[in-house]
Order: sequence, then C-alpha cells, then structure tokens
Amino acid sequence: MKHLLKMLDLSKEEIINLLNLADQLKYEKKYGIPHKHLEGKTLGMIFQKASTRTRVSFETGMYQLGGKALFLSSNDLQIGRGEPVQDTARVLSRYLDGIMIRTFAQQEVEDLAHYGSIPVINGLTDFCHPCQVLADLMTIREYKGTLEGLKMCYIGDGNNMANSLIVGGIKTGMQVSIACPAEYRPAKEVLEYAYENGKFSMTADVLSAAENADVIFTDVWASMGQEGEAEKRRQAFEGYQVNAAVMAAANPDAMVQHCLPAHREEEITAEVFEAHADEIFEEAENRLHAQKAVLVTLMKDQKAK
Ligand code: CP
Ligand code: NVA
Repeated sequence: MKHLLKMLDLSKEEIINLLNLADQLKYEKKYGIPHKHLEGKTLGMIFQKASTRTRVSFETGMYQLGGKALFLSSNDLQIGRGEPVQDTARVLSRYLDGIMIRTFAQQEVEDLAHYGSIPVINGLTDFCHPCQVLADLMTIREYKGTLEGLKMCYIGDGNNMANSLIVGGIKTGMQVSIACPAEYRPAKEVLEYAYENGKFSMTADVLSAAENADVIFTDVWASMGQEGEAEKRRQAFEGYQVNAAVMAAANPDAMVQHCLPAHREEEITAEVFEAHADEIFEEAENRLHAQKAVLVTLMKDQKAK
C-alpha cells in the first residue's frame, strides 16, 4: 500500500490489517504505551474545504506518533492561485514525508500521488472519504465483534460517504443496502463494483432498506460545496431521514453511525441521534486511531527527509 486514495484501491487484507493496527494503537494510547513510530517525520495537510475532525485528528495523531503536522490552507498556498498540482506535488515531496489532502476533485488527489514521490492520503473529496470509512468499520467491529455477514444500511444522498461505505462494507463481507432518491444515486463505478462483488441493493424505499439492518448510516443532504443547492435538496430528500420508524424496521440492537457534522431533524432526528450518541462519538474518536494506523502503514518504513 503506497497511498490511501479511495476504498476501491484497497484489498480486504489491507483493510483488515489497518483495522487491526488501529485497534492496537487505540489500546497503546489508552494504556500509555509509547508508539512513536514516526519520529522526525512531517505530514503536510492541504485543506480546500473546512474541517474539524479531520484536521484535529491528523494533527494530534502525528504528534502522538512522534512526528509533526503542517496545516496548509489552500487560501495561503500557491495552489490556490493556480500553481499546477504536478509542480506542487514535486516540490512538497522534497520537504515532507507524507501529504493529506481535502479537496473537491478526486483527480487532484490522484494527480498528487502520481506526480509526487511520497504517500498521499485522501482526507475527503467529492467522490469519497476513505479515512472516515476506516474509522466507521473499526467502530462497527468494536461494537459488534465482526463485520462479516452484518447488514449495513445507508439512507440519504449518494455522496462521498455513500460511495466509500458501499465499497468498504462489501470488501469486508457486509451486506449493503442504500435508500436514496433516483436523482441522487452513488457514483456509477461504485454501483458497478457493488452489484458485481457483493450482496447489494438500492431502493427509494427507506423502510425496506432498513429492514433487519445491524448498522444504519446517514449523512447530510447538502455536502460541502453544495450549499447553493441546499433548498432544492431539502425538498428532494424529504423522508430520507433516520428516525424512530427506521429504527423500528432495523434489528433491535442496530447501531447508528454518522460521520458528522449532523443536521438534526433533517437526515436524522435529535431523538435517534442522542439515543446513539455514544456510538457516534466513538466513531469520531476512532478517526484518530484509524488514521494513525494509515500514517504508520504508509510512512513508517520511509527514510525521514
Ligand atoms: N467527518 C469529517 O470528516 O469531519 P470534518 O469535516 O470535521 O473533518
Ligand atoms: N458528505 C459530507 C461529509 C462531511 C464529512 C461533505 O462532503 O460535506
């Protein structure tokens, strides 16, 4: 594994190895066992969109691993004034030991990896959010003891979260169902992968998707960059909400996961959110541990700059 660009690139074995290492690092952190695997190494973090969890968990994660993280807002970088990604990649590769990038186009992340010579980590694009889904899989395994054979249900927009959850769920042996409006389906390549490789269903009917689910996911109706469509989307997604009726259709011990930030009374009711807050905030914590596993896996054996 050289980069983390999207879930489609990872094998099942690579995902399980990352989850196992994440569990170990969480344990070591809890009991104060030193794990400074990245001493002297620097991660650059390029942000073209806002972030709370991703920024703070990567920055503290690097610190806990003995390294350093640099916050690079695209407003302040030459990339924001049009310097090509090919040049940025080759320059940053000479200073840094790894790059995390949050941006719009998936192609920009792929180009950064192609032209640079250091590991690149996707911290969210319009297409996918692999770091989040590794934390999600870690959390489900922590609560349920396994992933294999569980049913995951996603309700809402066929966005970056849906694209990554579908692939991550199927790769780890879960059954995946999604309920979304016909105009807001996941990406074509994700649907092709899902229908060919796993137990997958897509419907417009929320309750049938949720039936017997072990874990229910949702995400915002308007993602970052779609603020101008918010009203149109509010109408299109009416009814695509995780609420008491959805939870009644799911298994009695079903978990709820949300990558956050959440919009209460839109994609999830406050009642369901608060009833499952422990699972949701454990999921947020697990961003830290799962990303430390990614950082160690990608950067440990590289010679520090
Ligand atoms: N879930 C997530 O990626 O959160 P941030 O946008 O706060 O980083
Ligand atoms: N789908 C959301 C996820 C935020 C973590 C977005 O892209 O804004």
